[in-house]
Amino acid sequence: MKIQDIPNEIVREVLTEEQIENKLDEIAKQIDKDYEGKELLLIGVLGGAVMCMADLSRRISSPLEIDWIAISTYGQGTTSTGVIRILKDLYTDIKNRHVLIVEDILDSGLTLSWLKSNLTSRGPASVEIFTLLQKPDARKIEVEAKYVGFDIPNEFVIGYGLDYAQKYRNLRSIAVLHPDVYTQKS
Ligand code: XMP
Ligand code: MG
Repeated sequence: MKIQDIPNEIVREVLTEEQIENKLDEIAKQIDKDYEGKELLLIGVLGGAVMCMADLSRRISSPLEIDWIAISTYGQGTTSTGVIRILKDLYTDIKNRHVLIVEDILDSGLTLSWLKSNLTSRGPASVEIFTLLQKPDARKIEVEAKYVGFDIPNEFVIGYGLDYAQKYRNLRSIAVLHPDVYTQKS
């Protein structure tokens, strides 16, 4: 799906497909350098990170493994509280592994802060974070992402895996959702 397919539901496009692709090329090269000689385990956070995982992992030249975790945040609407529960845990024992978390967006930081300490407690050799997007103005807790695609304003975005009520994940680019969509009956 492209933004032309949903002109009334978005305010503006924030990132084009090409911008995303170029950024992933750049970051994948950096990851290849940083992890040379090490075996990488990518851990994707379901379901927003699915597109990032598919497109980032295929750009990495080094051998790697992929696993997935699903977590739920208890919160109201679009804000998370930091109270988090694992819905689907990893298949992999990450002890002594070099873990790179693959996430779509770093917002308040509560989710990734919790996930990083949860994974760290399992004894990996290292845990780092890739996030395609971050909203610096929304940060509530300090979390260091080693690889960041783009800083974006504090607005609700959709597309490229990011959803509103499970919709728009198949949008090829990233866009600000029109506030009318929130208030319309679903
Ligand atoms: P925190 O606040 O814990 O939130 O850093 C991270 C999670 O919240 C979701 N999120 C969004 N999802 N558009 C979305 O579709 C957004 O603008 C947005 N901001 C936060 C997302 O699930 C992320 O993993
Ligand atoms: Mg997410």
